[in-house]
Amino acid sequence: MKLKKITVSHIASSKKRHKLTMLTAYDAAIAKLIDEAGVDIALVGDSLGMVIQGQENTIPVKLEDIIYHTKCVARGIERAHIVADMPFSTYPTKTHALLNAGRLLKEGGAESVKLEGGEEIADIVKTLTSSGIPVIAHIGLKPQFIHRMGGYKIHGKDEDSERLLLKEAKLLEKAGAYSLLLEGITREVAGKITDSVMIPTIGIGSGPFCDGQVLVINDLLGMDKNFKPKFVKQYADLHLTITNAVKTYCEEVKTGNFPAMENSFTIEK
Ligand code: KIV
Repeated sequence: MKLKKITVSHIASSKKRHKLTMLTAYDAAIAKLIDEAGVDIALVGDSLGMVIQGQENTIPVKLEDIIYHTKCVARGIERAHIVADMPFSTYPTKTHALLNAGRLLKEGGAESVKLEGGEEIADIVKTLTSSGIPVIAHIGLKPQFIHRMGGYKIHGKDEDSERLLLKEAKLLEKAGAYSLLLEGITREVAGKITDSVMIPTIGIGSGPFCDGQVLVINDLLGMDKNFKPKFVKQYADLHLTITNAVKTYCEEVKTGNFPAMENSFTIEK
């Protein structure tokens, strides 16, 4: 039996009813696994620049990269809602935003898009949503702003930052965003934002008072033994599991233990 698809209205109406789960996915195999495990939202994040392409940050990611990975993810998903990130510099004007977000839906198979920004993207969010493209607005620590911010910093630590975040959250809700992604915000301020808007907030590194949580799948699975930030909980140690499996394979090939007779074919008589 086909599972019921998670829609924007399901996500929007989840507030105060149940917590939302979101994970990144970049290929069909992981998309299928997280979908079958019951994740509500699959995010084709521009974090793929770092975890898939091996880049320093998310700035070099192209629209074509996100389209390609969204297509792969869409093939593995039956139930989860599919969100595609709009990469750096693909939404400088309303026209660019509309054309590029449109490509993510038409060519990639995304069902909504995520944009980083505050007041400066409010008009773009309005244009997209009124053209039928659902939007998640990403505020707080915005990795695409790394050069302007001079690094990755936690937001909501003082009154000015709190005031700005609350203002941005309200503006983006008014502009039509159906959800807010809160990254790297103190848990107190993330809680206040969550209470101040009607749309669900999804947090990463923003504490337990958000309406949902998101993690980069590679972090949750412990793929990189050198990357363990405070906000990540590692639910598996795939670095160790994969390294051990590959070492054993190498040993067995060298010693002649693999392939065994049962791993090979013979002439049928
Ligand atoms: O690109 C991404 O994966 C993201 C998450 C960190 C939320 O935006």
